[in-house]
Amino acid sequence: MKVKLIETIEEMRAFSKNAKSKNLSIGYVPTMGALHDGHVSLMKKAVEQNDIAVMTIFVNPIQFGPNEDYNKYPRTLEADLEKAEAAGISAVFFPSATELTANLYSYIDINELQNNLCGTKRPGHFRGVCTIVGKFFNIIQPDNAYFGKKDIQQLYIIKQMVKDLNFDVKIIPCDIVREDDGLAMSSRNRYLSESERKDALVLSQSLKKAVTLHQQGEKSSQVLINSIRQEIEKISSAKIDYVSIVNEQMQDVCTVENKNIIALAVYIGNTRLIDNHIIGETLCF
Ligand code: PAJ
Repeated sequence: MKVKLIETIEEMRAFSKNAKSKNLSIGYVPTMGALHDGHVSLMKKAVEQNDIAVMTIFVNPIQFGPNEDYNKYPRTLEADLEKAEAAGISAVFFPSATELTANLYSYIDINELQNNLCGTKRPGHFRGVCTIVGKFFNIIQPDNAYFGKKDIQQLYIIKQMVKDLNFDVKIIPCDIVREDDGLAMSSRNRYLSESERKDALVLSQSLKKAVTLHQQGEKSSQVLINSIRQEIEKISSAKIDYVSIVNEQMQDVCTVENKNIIALAVYIGNTRLIDNHIIGETLCF
């Protein structure tokens, strides 16, 4: 079936109301476009698990800091629509920033969970994410919404927001999709030069080394963090933004336990990449 492109809030609401009136369940995948196989895995899950699957493509201005890549963020609508259609998505909501985020007076803010990792490195980022995702939940009224573990702090924050504000939606976490060599897929990978693309492997490789050390019995957070830092410092184009091990409340831990998260953000040249691993989950790279 051909994917329907929807550009106004009014039309999106009408689409969802129509689906609801027929008792059809709606699966929802929020994205900023420049779609890759990581996004596609979320889309396929949404298609499989619901009567109708909807996605949004919106480069959200309110989640970017003043010196971040909002203007240069890749915008590839035609290719994205083809991917959406191939995955079986029924409708793509592609609103304008004017309609969605101009002149906002109300925001959703989240305490505690944003006081570490990307939250401290990107002030205001999660306020922008929560606000836009909350708006999309209100407009689309999905039954299930799909989020990648690639953005692990985002996933935990959205889960908490849904609980705190009683959004009537189930959050479905989805595994990280990687390139064959281990690099976590990201829309930002297309910024990398050929040599930076090779250097970027240090994220997954240093993570893997730390996970192996942990599996061999190392429980000290600091030892694992140091091992990751040492690997990254060998790469001249790499600059560490953070390497942390946290619990599900996003607090640093001293002793590493099941469900703790090893998370890192590293600049490769000018490109900021993130990766993580949840202790206890299978390492498949
Ligand atoms: P974006 O970076 O486009 O990611 C959209 C969704 O795809 C997120 O849930 C993200 O975790 C997931 N994703 C990205 N790369 C992935 C990978 N390699 N494997 C699995 N899932 C992956 O995250 C955002 O957009 C925005 O913050 C958004 C939630 C849309 C709000 O603007």
